[in-house]
Amino acid sequence: QVIDARADAARINELFYQHIPESGLRNYWHPVALSREITERPLARTLMGDPVVLLRRQGVAYAVANACPHRGTQLSKGSCEFPGSRTLTCRYHGWTFDVADGRLVAALTDGPDSAIVGKARVRTYAVAERQGIVWIWLADSAPVPVEQDIPRGLLEASEVHTVRRVAAGNWRWHVENPGLGHATFLHRDSAYMRMVDMFGYAEGPSAVLGTEGEDGEWLLDKFAGMGNNREYPGLGTWPPKRFGEVIKLTKFADGPLGVNSIVSVRLPGIVRVSNFPIGGSLYYEWFVQTDADHYLYFQVACGYPKTLLQRASWLARFYGWGRWAGMVRFNAQDLSMTEDSHTYAKRHGSNDPAPLYRPDGFQLAWRKYALEQLRGGKVPELRPQPAIREATS
Ligand code: FES
Repeated sequence: QVIDARADAARINELFYQHIPESGLRNYWHPVALSREITERPLARTLMGDPVVLLRRQGVAYAVANACPHRGTQLSKGSCEFPGSRTLTCRYHGWTFDVADGRLVAALTDGPDSAIVGKARVRTYAVAERQGIVWIWLADSAPVPVEQDIPRGLLEASEVHTVRRVAAGNWRWHVENPGLGHATFLHRDSAYMRMVDMFGYAEGPSAVLGTEGEDGEWLLDKFAGMGNNREYPGLGTWPPKRFGEVIKLTKFADGPLGVNSIVSVRLPGIVRVSNFPIGGSLYYEWFVQTDADHYLYFQVACGYPKTLLQRASWLARFYGWGRWAGMVRFNAQDLSMTEDSHTYAKRHGSNDPAPLYRPDGFQLAWRKYALEQLRGGKVPELRPQPAIREATS
């Protein structure tokens, strides 16, 4: 299904800014840390503006609001005063909470008969762990099964490796990064693109809603580049030679799997790139807003080696160059651009859509897709009306 949203651009942009918040989509599971980082010691994080403390008790990961309901002290400064229990005790006056349900179970400065016990509660958040990653549900509503929000390609991977950093900017800019026809231009001088003929150069419809492999439905970006050796009137021929012809390492290392990466997006704002950063892999990235000007850029590379030999080869290629050249250096070029977009938007009013050109078709299609598919969203203006369609067909 080809999605061409350009005709409705103004309406889509207006609704997008109205319904897709800068702070992120709460009605979804988001990755926030690695399982090994969550220990008995409280770990403080700000997620979509909420101060949260993550910790482990009896082997299970939990998350509670990082503010004691007594005087607002950060619970991340607290401790476990009853070893082996599911509790966290506030550093200030010893209020002690069950981290599973948030109930106040003791007030250590008021004795075992304290009347306040059972009468206060700290907010809890649902937490799940899959593939060594900790996922959190930040909405007030009951969470959906976590598997609904984790792509199958990640759930089924035998190798899962991450790069994580706090980026300056806003998640909405970064999730739209793939569709801007930037890959072959911005990244053209990166070590990665010099070695990998990553993207094809065919022109065509940019946004296609479809499946690729066993990874469910995604919005696929089929706009692949600007063409080669075009004549620009009065300027000359550009580009002078085809990008990616310098070494084409993947032709040797990965065979045909090393080329033709396809970039896709889905809610809550996950970008997927096939055959990145090495052939035969799937790469996913999440953008979890932390505060008004920062987000957690959570990159995950998934491999599917089956034998020991395949695993050794995958790891050698990944750590030998794919992780560094792709996930670290190549993606840092994106960060530099999307940070600028955020700074510019803040200066000029973030609800001001940029002038659009043809490759922005994918950006618009993503916005339309997000509005139509939004979980718990109410965007009736863009919803398909099957009853009417059936009646007329
Ligand atoms: Fe936490 Fe007083 S502020 S116990």
